[in-house]
Amino acid sequence: MKKIITICLIAVAVYACKQEVISAATSAPSNFTYSVSSTTITQGTAGTSVAPTINTGGGKVAYTLSGAGISGISLNTNTGIISWSNILLPGTYTISVSASNSVGSVTATYTLIVNSNGIVTVPTGFSYSPASATIVVNTAGSSATPTITNGGGTITYSLTGTIPTGVSISSTTGIISWTNAVAAGTYTLNVKATNSAGNTTTTYTLTVNATATVTAPSGLAYNPASSSVTQGTAGNSATPTINNGLGTITYSLTGTIPTGVSINNTTGVISWTTAVAIGTYTLNVTATNSAGNTTATYALTVAAPAATVSFSADILPVISSNCSGCHSYATTYAGITGHTSGCNSIQNKINTTYCSGSRMPLGATPLSTSFITLFNNWITQGQLNN
Ligand code: HEC
Repeated sequence: MKKIITICLIAVAVYACKQEVISAATSAPSNFTYSVSSTTITQGTAGTSVAPTINTGGGKVAYTLSGAGISGISLNTNTGIISWSNILLPGTYTISVSASNSVGSVTATYTLIVNSNGIVTVPTGFSYSPASATIVVNTAGSSATPTITNGGGTITYSLTGTIPTGVSISSTTGIISWTNAVAAGTYTLNVKATNSAGNTTTTYTLTVNATATVTAPSGLAYNPASSSVTQGTAGNSATPTINNGLGTITYSLTGTIPTGVSINNTTGVISWTTAVAIGTYTLNVTATNSAGNTTATYALTVAAPAATVSFSADILPVISSNCSGCHSYATTYAGITGHTSGCNSIQNKINTTYCSGSRMPLGATPLSTSFITLFNNWITQGQLNN
């Protein structure tokens, strides 16, 4: 008697929960826009964007900021509303927001223009990248443009201290130039950036070698130094960094080179075609100049694509036998696809990392890790009714 009452309560709880269920996405979100997509503010003013409009594709949409984060700009991941704090410096900020559901994603951009409040502060963040150059005598050249936060004022650049003959700076861009008259030596150039509120300094090192003595290359590195891909996916590595020892570098792969893998002799970029077989490969890269060589390795992993999951053979029997006693939806395709999104989704509730209520199946042995992987693959493959 006592047992029957308990079952009734569980049934009521299930029914109550089912009202909350968010339906599964049937397509990627689309038509994602901010009706007012640009705002101009005065420095020191916090604010928020309008709520975006979107076609959710039938599922729950999560919003994220794409690209490098900007300090002072944040996003509500549920509503897509962008907020900015009063710390933003004058400038134009292009904010890219991505909206995704279980099927795909779409992006929209928002422009925030921050006008100066007229208060000039001392410039900060002054640097050159790279902050040095190594040349041989009789070679004219110039530095990269430095980065700086201008504090809302106009910057004037200058060189201070002893300035070697042949070296100068553009007072407006901060670019340091040298003519072919600079004598051999190592020079630490002191650079000052000034606005009406004050100044900030940095240094730049110019090394002028007497002769073009080529030394063996060093410091060959890939960042990242590995890639993991699914078989049938072509791709390539990043461009490696290297100290060229003042020589011309030729890159090559040594040892056993898997079919479909090659290297660009001049850039060092490693490429792979769709033909590379499944496996884990350690690629040996040699960079050579006239004085010697240096080596690095790159790890390429090519994994088998997940087999197509069968709904009728792999999914339905397991869900049906473990869950249908308490959930009537657990016996049909429509019932199961109706529960594949959000916190109340099946893939969430059967996992160790479930985000609300209890782990399913309630009060029984958890489903195997391999089934959980299978279920996730079925969703990734588009919830086929096969
Ligand atoms: C003994 C009964 C029982 C069994 C067996 C059971 N559940 Fe549940 N289920 C519940 C109850 C009660 C809730 C509501 C409380 C909670 O969320 O923890 C629930 C909630 C859920 C929810 C979220 C709300 C909803 O109704 O959609 C999902 C999804 C779910 N279960 C999936 C499963 C799956 C998948 C299985 C089988 C692997 C399973 N359950 C087995 C009783 C059960």
